[in-house]
Amino acid sequence: MKPSELARAQGAHLFFTWSAQHSVVPLTIDQARGARFRTVEHGWLWDLESQVYNVNVGHAHPHVQERMIEQIRSQATAAPNAVLPIRVELAAALHRVTGLEKAFLATGGSEAVENAIKIARLVTGRSKIVTRRNSYHGATLAVLGIAGDARKQPFVADLAPAYHIEDPYPCAEATASSPSLWVRNLEALLQREDPRSVAAILLEGFTGTNGMQHPPRDFWPRVRQLCDQHGILLIDDEVFSGFGRTGRWFAREHWGARADMMVLGKGLSSGYAPLSAVMVSSAIAAHFDDHKLWCGLTQYAHPVSCAAAAAVIEVMERELLVENADRIGAGLHERLQALARKPAVHGAIRDVRGLGLMRAVEFDRPVAPLHAILLQRGAYLPFRDNIAFLCPPLCLTGAEMHTVADLIEDGVRAFLR
Ligand SMILES: Cc1ncc(COP(=O)(O)O)c(C=O)c1O
Repeated sequence: MKPSELARAQGAHLFFTWSAQHSVVPLTIDQARGARFRTVEHGWLWDLESQVYNVNVGHAHPHVQERMIEQIRSQATAAPNAVLPIRVELAAALHRVTGLEKAFLATGGSEAVENAIKIARLVTGRSKIVTRRNSYHGATLAVLGIAGDARKQPFVADLAPAYHIEDPYPCAEATASSPSLWVRNLEALLQREDPRSVAAILLEGFTGTNGMQHPPRDFWPRVRQLCDQHGILLIDDEVFSGFGRTGRWFAREHWGARADMMVLGKGLSSGYAPLSAVMVSSAIAAHFDDHKLWCGLTQYAHPVSCAAAAAVIEVMERELLVENADRIGAGLHERLQALARKPAVHGAIRDVRGLGLMRAVEFDRPVAPLHAILLQRGAYLPFRDNIAFLCPPLCLTGAEMHTVADLIEDGVRAFLR
């Protein structure tokens, strides 16, 4: 079949997501390796979206593939509560890398956030969940309800009321005499809503496609203090920003605050199999020793997904991918800043920001034409409105980073010409 026929055949009986079906421009993938994938339409492309910000260890990693195949051969299916060596191994590894006590495993980020909300409500006996106004925590109905992202719009009339911290952006930093605007927003919201009715504050470790804005320095520490003061649980959603993406295992480590719960997804299994997790503290874990955990899923802790995640953690540790994301990300940031200062570009790039290999470049105009230019030149660049995102797999080498930066520089010059 020709690529256009293949796309038509797929579109005939399978939906494309987040799109009017006739507006989808097909991209037919026939191979992938490391930080690149090959398409029938454009040949090899640098994967600056890591597929959906999830292929952190890179494409076609032989160790991940081998461990998944081994698991399929030994035990590919198992009931949720069956005891399996691979579950023992992954749970211990998650405890080690997160510092939290116990995991509840699910299949995707949204489902894990749903379960985190249920657990927070079961433990506290309270109902309200506070989020940032421009936050994204997933696409299921309960999660759309509590978050602020625009993707809730078609359903908004039927969703429960949401409790948001406003998004002052660019944000006023704290001074010696005054906390940051974000902190003042949060304090006011808690007073207004009665903090004793708030079960949890749910925050992305580092905001993803809603802008990759840096929070003010006092934000995470003050959130922690307020949670302690009012018996509120702090849930850190690291679905996007976790597993090395920001040059730390988890983005919140940049600010040093403790979380009661974490939500993991995407990079957890690097996209090799569906898997997500809710991690909880020892106090929350102990609550369920004698209280029923009203949560469960048929595909809970799927053995093949567990094998993928256990292998991903091994690869990240052996290949020092967290350190690599930090170092290569800093180099990429320098190249982007240098580009923004070039006379031919000056003024068109409003801001370069981000952490590790989670970078955003904000332009003074919509970025769709730059995406199209780079497709012709060998890179897949994700974007939203006037912001381009650079989130390649964390295995990107120094030489590859410079190749990508050269491509972007050429593409941006053509874009602005
Ligand atoms: C911070 C965050 N939480 C949750 C989700 C939802 O994850 P999933 O798409 O796997 O349901 C996403 C997805 O982008 C995310 O970025």
